[in-house]
Amino acid sequence: MMQQSKRTLVTTALPYANGPVHLGHLAGVYLPADIYVRYKRLKGEDVIHIGGSDEHGVPITITAEKEGISPQDVVDRYHRMNLDAFRKCGISFDYYGRTSSPVHHETAKEFFLEIERKGIFRRKTEKQFFDATAGRFLSDRYVTGTCPICGNPEANGDQCEQCGTHLSPMELLNPKSKLSDAIPELRETMHWYFPLGRFQKALEAYVEAHRDDWRPNVVNYTRTWLNQGLTDRAITRDLDWGIELPLSDPEARGKVLYVWFDAVLGYISFTRQWAAQRGDGELWRSYWQDPESRIVHFIGKDNVVFHTLMFPAILMAWNENRQNGIYGLADNVPASEFMNFEGRKFSKSRNYAVYLGEFLEKFPADTLRYSIAMNYPENKDTDFSWTDFQNRTNGELADTLGNFIKRSIDFTNSRFDGVVPHACTDDEWNGLGVNWPETVEKLDQAFEQFHFREAASLGMDIARAANRFLTESEPWKIFRTDREAAARTMALSLNLCHALALALYPVLPDTAARICTMLGFGEPIEAGVRPGVSLFRNLLHPMLHKGHRLAANSGILFTKIEDAAIEPELKKIEQLLAEAEKREAGAAAERTVFKPVISFDDFQKVDLRVATVISAEPVKKASRLLKLQLGVGTETRQVLAGIAEHYQPEALLGRQVVLVANLAERTLRGEVSQGMILAVEDMDGRLLVLEPSGELINGGQVQ
Ligand code: MF3
Ligand code: ZN
Repeated sequence: MMQQSKRTLVTTALPYANGPVHLGHLAGVYLPADIYVRYKRLKGEDVIHIGGSDEHGVPITITAEKEGISPQDVVDRYHRMNLDAFRKCGISFDYYGRTSSPVHHETAKEFFLEIERKGIFRRKTEKQFFDATAGRFLSDRYVTGTCPICGNPEANGDQCEQCGTHLSPMELLNPKSKLSDAIPELRETMHWYFPLGRFQKALEAYVEAHRDDWRPNVVNYTRTWLNQGLTDRAITRDLDWGIELPLSDPEARGKVLYVWFDAVLGYISFTRQWAAQRGDGELWRSYWQDPESRIVHFIGKDNVVFHTLMFPAILMAWNENRQNGIYGLADNVPASEFMNFEGRKFSKSRNYAVYLGEFLEKFPADTLRYSIAMNYPENKDTDFSWTDFQNRTNGELADTLGNFIKRSIDFTNSRFDGVVPHACTDDEWNGLGVNWPETVEKLDQAFEQFHFREAASLGMDIARAANRFLTESEPWKIFRTDREAAARTMALSLNLCHALALALYPVLPDTAARICTMLGFGEPIEAGVRPGVSLFRNLLHPMLHKGHRLAANSGILFTKIEDAAIEPELKKIEQLLAEAEKREAGAAAERTVFKPVISFDDFQKVDLRVATVISAEPVKKASRLLKLQLGVGTETRQVLAGIAEHYQPEALLGRQVVLVANLAERTLRGEVSQGMILAVEDMDGRLLVLEPSGELINGGQVQ
């Protein structure tokens, strides 16, 4: 038996309200959550689905600056747009909140103050870049400069897009402010840090307790963080958009809570708002503060540690030394892998995406829900393609499911006056080629364990068996000779229609409702659910009685997608890819614009040497870096190079390279780098190390 809990709280990652959600978001987070929630509702369980917009943080302010509008305008626009798209897609939130709402601000401040009162935060003064022209401290993303690893002149303060290295603004060469192009100066500023390490033991215990019921990737990724040792994380930022620190200290002025600290608390504040809207201001507690409630966070893989470490630690800090008002931690965090689009990653910045709202203007929600469920990125990245979408819609939804429903209803209408013509027995029901008890058990397991691709496939398997049964029974042939047998076939088929509506309801809610309407049920499908009673159990028996009257009309459930309908989409992709290529080529061309002329004397200052790679190894916490020991004449030099993605360390052993030998030392990830080696990017963006041809003297000067 599956574990039953009194209540389930389902949350979905709050999308940043700085752009429209795309199919990748839907596939990883919102559709699986909705399938799960609808399944629970159908089982008569107490479940709520809480989501909303993440409206703070640098992504919002950067979008606002780019578009020349206020951050409020940005979030207003995209909150509405995303809510509307979700609604059209049948994502059934019980509450869809906003982190800009007053209740959310209060909730986040309450948490901050409680943790501050307990003296858990640490205050640290540090030097941070300050833009004197704009009169503002610059958070990471507001600083650009040259990447110390690959030399990209437009690296961001948090990451270099070209080589992927995670950076801190201080590591950039020639830093510049994004606000004014001014050269930023270092000034002292104080920030509040959350000491994650203080909760290391408790978090380890928490994760280990779930090592068998969480997805392996979620456990492994979280363990990697734990193994490295958790450190203090700044939870304040110098920004003017966000939740102000609820302190009157002069040091708190101009600071807001770090967006991740406030966003995860959105789950709580939105549940509070949901409860208030229901007229019971305390109802939220039975989902958050009752040990019998199960909490499930649906997220994408990029959000794992925020949900398995940060958020639990914040709740632990709150819970510390409390007798009541204790928050439960998540029971599961089903993080998805990514769904790609036509073989490439979705990318908002490159505009390589299909946005949910746009898609639903052209095709019905259920066709999308089905295709995406069948490509659910449960444990590996998957791909959405237009051809796959077309094939599944035409072959599986229209030809298999739709066709069966239509044949069953039309034939009953024309030959049996639209009335169920026979009372089916359990024996007949179990003789259809579907093992019902096994199917119900499998469906239950699949939904409960978040195997949504399997759940959708099981539904489609029933449709295939149903089609086979109807085709092989040939009621249209035997109708005149054996009316009884034809009546039995049709009654069983109509019961199969009903079973399909039930089994597929979580994935295809609109289709299920339409099937029920055609079958002559006046009510929506969930209407029959009573607390604690599972409608899935109805699959075990034929539910339509002899004499039950169908609605007069069948309708077309799914319209086939003609080639002509997806051709423009395929063209659009071609165009997007061509544009991306052109942009990339343009960028490459830009990079070949020569730097300003330097004097011969300047050039003479650069000491270029032939060096030999003696050893090469990966660098902890820096997946893109290799640590090289280079023999240069009589000396050995250590150099960190951003080439780990392109070279196996062993492949470099014994190779000769060209070293910039008199570059000032730098420290990256706690390791010293004494120079740079020359490398060049190839057509595919791989960084290739320049290798002098022929065996040269080690330490030889390049001139
Ligand atoms: N806005 C974040 C993102 O899109 C997700 C926030 S999830 C939350 O990556 F729980 F923190 F809200
Ligand atoms: Zn770089």
